[in-house]
Amino acid sequence: MYNFEFKNPVKILFGKESISKLSGEIPGDANILMIYGGGSIKRTGVYDQVMAAVKGSTISEFGGIEANPHYETCMKAVDVVKENNIDFLLAVGGGSVLDASKFIAAAALYENGDPWDILAAGAPVEKAIPFGAVLTLPATGSEMNGNSVITRVERQEKKAFGSPLVMPQFSVLDPECVFTLPDRQVANGVVDAFIHVMEQYLTFKVNSPLQDRLAESILTTLIEEGPKVLADRKNYEAAANFMWCATMALNGMIGVGVPQDWSTHIIGHELTAFHGIDHGRTLAIVLPGVMHIKRDNKKDKILQYGERIWGITTDNENERIDAIIARTVQFFESLGVPCRLPDYDVPETTIGKIVERFKQSEAKIGEKQDMDYQEIEKILRDRL
Ligand code: NZQ
Ligand code: ZN
Repeated sequence: MYNFEFKNPVKILFGKESISKLSGEIPGDANILMIYGGGSIKRTGVYDQVMAAVKGSTISEFGGIEANPHYETCMKAVDVVKENNIDFLLAVGGGSVLDASKFIAAAALYENGDPWDILAAGAPVEKAIPFGAVLTLPATGSEMNGNSVITRVERQEKKAFGSPLVMPQFSVLDPECVFTLPDRQVANGVVDAFIHVMEQYLTFKVNSPLQDRLAESILTTLIEEGPKVLADRKNYEAAANFMWCATMALNGMIGVGVPQDWSTHIIGHELTAFHGIDHGRTLAIVLPGVMHIKRDNKKDKILQYGERIWGITTDNENERIDAIIARTVQFFESLGVPCRLPDYDVPETTIGKIVERFKQSEAKIGEKQDMDYQEIEKILRDRL
């Protein structure tokens, strides 16, 4: 196992009616800006629950954060924060609203020029407005990490940044929020959480049996609980287990001391940037290609994953890996998530555009930093 340092200070308030505990978590004299998305919270009743919980506080609102949140919209929120001397952000929504709030928190106090540099140039975040979250969609893990992904629409660029300063002060996780999710968002969430685990697990062995088993337990639980949530949206127990899986998949715990890949995410973000495909769906497209093309790098872990998660032990190793990839695809498809580029009407020309970006940046990605633009092209062509 590698050396590591680990700190996760996010307080989680988990369970039924946990939104009512909100007020105890926000300083009484705070000047709050509540940030939300396209209006689902008004239809689902979460907005009313939040307003009841923060009654008596000074609170204003900023709605309209898009799925795959736009830099342009975030910068409008930054103006609102500055004009109104906001000193606490309350994000109410899915990963997009949380990610937007993190960027707004950092951009509003950024003094070294254009805040886009935080995303595009890795400019360090030195301060951020404190924020808390009410999560309405289990998927990203944003509720318990310091990561954020923002899209600049005019440039068709989707970029990420991370800082401990934008970890939420607290996150409220009420599994009843799952009850109102459409099938598509449940499926996206299961796939996203599943692939967060894979990015931190499907690499190479470093003698980390505890991390391996933690990762495998999340995968197995998602395989068991995901379909239950899809079949019966009011199954509270299944919703609760799904929600906690998604948080555990990307709160840092399973990734300490082990190599991490993230190539599926980095390539997937390009598919969202060019075609607006839902984040989870881009991952379902790309992961099978990564497993196929990087089967030598990842052989030991793919075989362990196949045996422990799917009970696949037959055939020679190469054929077994094919069977393991096919079983993984079958799981995603069983959730209603297609796994090939043509399923999303992505033309072949997009592959050229994406590959050109990686060629220009000379970036090498993956757990061994050995995946170049030529391999990325092979991965995407495998998904035609
Ligand atoms: O916008 P509203 O009206 O709120 O509707 C949303 C949105 O249309 C709706 N929704 C959310 N909760 C609901 C609900 N509808 C009914 N009932 C509810 N309880 O669902 C739609 C999708 O929401 P969104 O927040 O976009 O989804 P998700 O949570 O999957 O977030 C995706 C974003 O997170 C980023 C992705 O790249 C993408 O931009 N990620 C963030 C990560 C992180 N911070 O660590 C890691 C991930 O890998 C990912 O990249
Ligand atoms: Zn993800």
